[in-house]
Amino acid sequence: MIEVFADNGALNAATAERIVTAAGRAVAERGGFHLVLSGGETPKPLYELLATPAWKSRMDWKRTHVYWSDERCVPVDDPRSNAGMTRRALLDHVPVPAAQVHPLYLGGSPQQAARDYEALLRQSASGGLPRFDLALLGLGADGHTASLFPGTAAVAERQRLVCELYLPEQDMHRLTMTVPLLNQARQVVFLVSGAGKVAMLQQVLSDAVDSVGQMPPARLIRPVDGELDWLIDVAAASNLHL
Ligand code: 6PG
Repeated sequence: MIEVFADNGALNAATAERIVTAAGRAVAERGGFHLVLSGGETPKPLYELLATPAWKSRMDWKRTHVYWSDERCVPVDDPRSNAGMTRRALLDHVPVPAAQVHPLYLGGSPQQAARDYEALLRQSASGGLPRFDLALLGLGADGHTASLFPGTAAVAERQRLVCELYLPEQDMHRLTMTVPLLNQARQVVFLVSGAGKVAMLQQVLSDAVDSVGQMPPARLIRPVDGELDWLIDVAAASNLHL
């Protein structure tokens, strides 16, 4: 489903409502809520909203498990860290048990961190493929989501659940959940805001391919048995015609 909202306030409130609703359903049906968060700038006001008394009281944080879709391989106190941003905006303000918060990167080798996280996920799913209850994703102007950047091997990975990559343009190692893992989610919510995403949003939602027949990585995210929602503000949707 694609929904367009008049402003950032309405967009974040609608996204928070989806997260709270998914959490209530997951806890009722399975006794816990497994939530994947993403980084970047867009979700920060959403996380701050979820940390307000009106919203945080609507989540059963004691039964919530938090993961990240991707991470920059930097220390958590580095301003580029997704986990650091999420802790400051949300997790330091809600009673989620520390043992239920699963940061992707805690230092050391990106390769080892990817293997360790995959082992954690497979162990929690008793060897099968983990099915997150909700994965919150963003969209880069180049069509990436999580850290599935165009042209990287991570985009084509179909066996591993988590892999490492190096981005020369950022001189940065990253970790990312892969397409097969994200597509196991019961619900994927893309949160997209701002005029900078107009062109890519049109490309992703209109099923267009680029000049070399490549599709934007974000378009590979289609839950195999789940819901896909695009929650967008009018700035990002300004040229949307489907
Ligand atoms: C990251 C994010 C990434 C993000 C997009 C959009 O680590 O950068 O997980 O996938 O969602 O890059 O970022 P903005 O919200 O900052 O535009």
